[in-house]
Amino acid sequence: MKLDHAAANHSKRTGRRSVHAGPTGRACGGPATPHMSLAMNPALEVPAARATAERQAGPGAEGLFPWRDPGLLADPYPYYHRLRAEAPVYRDPLGFWLLSRYTDVSAVARDPRFGKDFSAVEGTRVSVIRGGVEAPMVAELLRWMLYRDPPDHRRLRILAAKAFSPRMIQGMRARVQQIVDELIGDHSERGAMDVIADFAFVLPVTVICELLGLPTEERDQCRAWAEAVSRGLDPLQTPDTVARADVAVLEMTDYVRRVVALRRRSPGDDLLTALISAEEEGSRLDEPELISTVNLLLFAGHQTTRDLIGNGLLALLEHPAETARLIEDPPLIGNAVDELTRYDSPVQMVPRWARENVEIGGCRIPAGDQVSLLLGAANRDPELFPEPDSLDLGRPNAGSLVSFGGGVHFCLGAALARLEAQIGIPALVRLPELRLVEDAVERRQQRALRSLQALPVTFRPGPP
Ligand code: HEM
Repeated sequence: MKLDHAAANHSKRTGRRSVHAGPTGRACGGPATPHMSLAMNPALEVPAARATAERQAGPGAEGLFPWRDPGLLADPYPYYHRLRAEAPVYRDPLGFWLLSRYTDVSAVARDPRFGKDFSAVEGTRVSVIRGGVEAPMVAELLRWMLYRDPPDHRRLRILAAKAFSPRMIQGMRARVQQIVDELIGDHSERGAMDVIADFAFVLPVTVICELLGLPTEERDQCRAWAEAVSRGLDPLQTPDTVARADVAVLEMTDYVRRVVALRRRSPGDDLLTALISAEEEGSRLDEPELISTVNLLLFAGHQTTRDLIGNGLLALLEHPAETARLIEDPPLIGNAVDELTRYDSPVQMVPRWARENVEIGGCRIPAGDQVSLLLGAANRDPELFPEPDSLDLGRPNAGSLVSFGGGVHFCLGAALARLEAQIGIPALVRLPELRLVEDAVERRQQRALRSLQALPVTFRPGPP
């Protein structure tokens, strides 16, 4: 479906606009019936039946934000612009709210009236479609600091941050450069590579495995687990993606448990050992917390960075003048990586749950409702970023991006991701006569993460 026709087709199909006026007259979107959270609406309290129906019918297809539209997967930005213009606080037929304005997204990320711990919200979609709070993946998510609220969150975060310190990250600089040089060297004689499989995946997974002190031979296995979990986190699920995510979580946990036992017996100079011994006011991570924190770092530590390098390089290949600018002015790289992360954010949306009734932009969000912060949309909000669809590596406020979130959950690994991209991307763009093999670019079928499956390039072969 072409976006220009999307709204018209939608009205034709449904016979009504799905945008309705909020209590103060603002367009809030969503079904024409009065909205309620799943927990509040007895008619929807049939979790298994609803979950199955949603998986099969894909109710999101009918909304102002057509989740299953291939055009949205290819280029979500025009859809975000329309959403921001027509219903910036929009209740999607999937049952949650979509926020697309920069001010709303960054305010809600910092607002204690919204939380991440969804375990108290009965029948919330995120657990219903994944088998409930007892299902392996949902139970694991609820142990991650990423899905905890203060004060639990604060304790887990402080202990992890003690181990995963800026000093430890800066200590990786030389090693990151070495890995990048080796990867470029491995492919320079061939004159071709798939940037995703041969570079953007290998660099971050090697770095996080080495940091944690995990054997790098297992990195393909780590990638497969993280892949299954990230598909399991997407707003659209099938029974198959849920089952694979559950198996991945159980296998990953089993593997990490064995490595933790090993490291307890013989401590090393690594992040895992530092996590084992991290202590704050007499508190330490217990065994399940330790395992889940390692799982989280393994998961969060490479997929998103892979996507930053992949999406960033694709954007540069599509903007040769900006690439030339970067090659001529290497110190631009810090700002350039922020701009690339803003321009095509690896994480497109993150959830929050209202802990009380809250009004945003004239729309009343009932306690218990899920709100999706569209980071990708906020990053393209013209209110903050003039000409938001242009790539400008010198953009003065590129650092105001929300790609790493905001508030207490601000990305713990942002400095590491930036370091890897700041070393990795220049090495790629300096490859002589670098060209995209256009027809072979493939995108992953995911919406929460913006992710390339393959990014094949050619360049002039020769020694690096
Ligand atoms: C370009 C790369 C990355 C992006 C775009 C990214 C994005 C994000 C975002 C948006 C959040 C906040 C989620 C929320 O507010 O709900 C987050 C949290 C987090 N990220 Fe990253 N991330 C990246 C790389 C990394 C790396 C390399 C690591 C670790 C090695 C990491 C570890 C974490 C952790 C542990 C959290 C949870 C923090 C908390 O809940 O307090 N991330 N990340």
